[in-house]
Amino acid sequence: MIILAIETSCDETACAILQKREDRITILSNVVASSADLQSKYGGIIPEYAAREQIKSIIPVIKEALEKSQLNPDQLDAIAVTCGPGLIGSLLVGVETAKVLCLVWSKPLIPVNHLIGHFYANWIQIQRSDVKNQISEEKTNSLKSTATSLPSFPCLGLLVSGGHSDLVLFKNHGKYEYLGGTRDDAAGECFDKCARLLNLAYPGGPQISKFAKHGDPKAFKLPRPLHDSNDLDFSFSGLKTAVSTLISDLSKNSPLSTNNQFANLCASIEQAIIDSLLNKLTRAIQKYQIEQIIVAGGVAANNRLRDCLDQSLARSSRAEIRLYIPPPFLCTDNAAMIASAAFFTKPAPSPLAIQANPSLSLSQSD
Ligand code: KG4
Ligand code: ZN
Repeated sequence: MIILAIETSCDETACAILQKREDRITILSNVVASSADLQSKYGGIIPEYAAREQIKSIIPVIKEALEKSQLNPDQLDAIAVTCGPGLIGSLLVGVETAKVLCLVWSKPLIPVNHLIGHFYANWIQIQRSDVKNQISEEKTNSLKSTATSLPSFPCLGLLVSGGHSDLVLFKNHGKYEYLGGTRDDAAGECFDKCARLLNLAYPGGPQISKFAKHGDPKAFKLPRPLHDSNDLDFSFSGLKTAVSTLISDLSKNSPLSTNNQFANLCASIEQAIIDSLLNKLTRAIQKYQIEQIIVAGGVAANNRLRDCLDQSLARSSRAEIRLYIPPPFLCTDNAAMIASAAFFTKPAPSPLAIQANPSLSLSQSD
C-alpha cells in the first residue's frame, strides 16, 4: 500500500509518500518546507503569515514529493491529511488541497490527528539514505536511541512538542488512553518562551540546546513544577516565570550574553524541562508496568533529552524496557509520520466529510 500524506498544521508545509509492505513502512519521499525563518523575525508564529506561506508552498511541495518518489498519482492507494489540531488557517490549506486531490485522482482520504501522527514516526523503518538526505546538523545523532525493531502494544507514549506535552497509554492501533498532560505551557513552548526572554530566535528549543552544550546544567536552581504531585501532569509556566525573574536579577550586574552565565542558564533551563518530563515518565512506567516507551514531537530531537532518557532507563531496575525515539528529522513536524499513522487509520466515508478541527484532542480516540 502506498500513501501520500500532507501535513500543514503549523508553520511547516510537508508532503511525504510512504509504502507499507507487510510490517515494513518505508519512506519513498519526504519533503518539508518551513516558514520558521520568516516567523523568527517576529519571535514566534503569526498565524496569518503561516497560512499565507502554506498556500505558496503546498503545490510545489506535493509536486516535489511525487517527483522524488518517481511515482505518478495512479500508483497511490490513498491520500492522508492532518485534520487537527493546529492553526485553522494552516490546517485548511492542507485539508482542502487533500480533498481536491482525492476527488480529481479518485482516492480515499484518511484524516489523521497530528498528535497521534507524531507517535507513528516510531513505526517508520529508517534507511540510511533517509538520514543522509536530511540537513547536516541532524546527521550527528540521528540514529541514536532509535531501536531497530518496531514498537508493540501496550506501550507508553510521551509527546513533547511545541503545543503539547502528553502521556498516553497505547493499547492497540487506534486504542489509547490519555494519562496526563501539561496544565499550562508545553515543553516546546517553554523552550520557545525562555529563548525569547534570552533574545534567541524562534524556534527556541534548538537555540537553547546549542548554547546549553557549553554550560553547567546545575549552575542555576530552577523550579520543577508538580515534581511531587501524584498525577501524570506537567506544568512549565512557573519555570518560564522563574527564568524571567532570574534574567532580570542577573542582568543588573552585567549583560548576560557576555559571560558564560548565558550558557549556564541555557543548560539549567534545558535540564529543568528534561527533569520534569523524566519524573512523570518514570512514574507512569512504574504505575502501568510498561516495557515499551515511544517518545515523539519536536522536543524529542533534543540531544540531551535523548541521552537522559537512555541513561534513566538504563539505571531503572526494569532492564527490559525498550525506548523508541524517531531520528530528529522525524521528531519535528513532517508528513512521513502522518502517512505512517494513516496505514492504521480508516478512510473517511467521503473526502468531503473531512473538516479541519483546530482543537482536536487526544481524548477523542478514533
Ligand atoms: O513537533 P513540533 O515540530 O511542532 C508541534 O507540533 O508543536 O515541535 C516544535 C517544538 C518547538 O517548540 C521547538 O522549539 C521544539 O519543538 N524543538 C526543540 C528542539 N527541536 C525542536 N526543543 C528542544 N531541543 C531541540 N533540539
Ligand atoms: Zn507537531
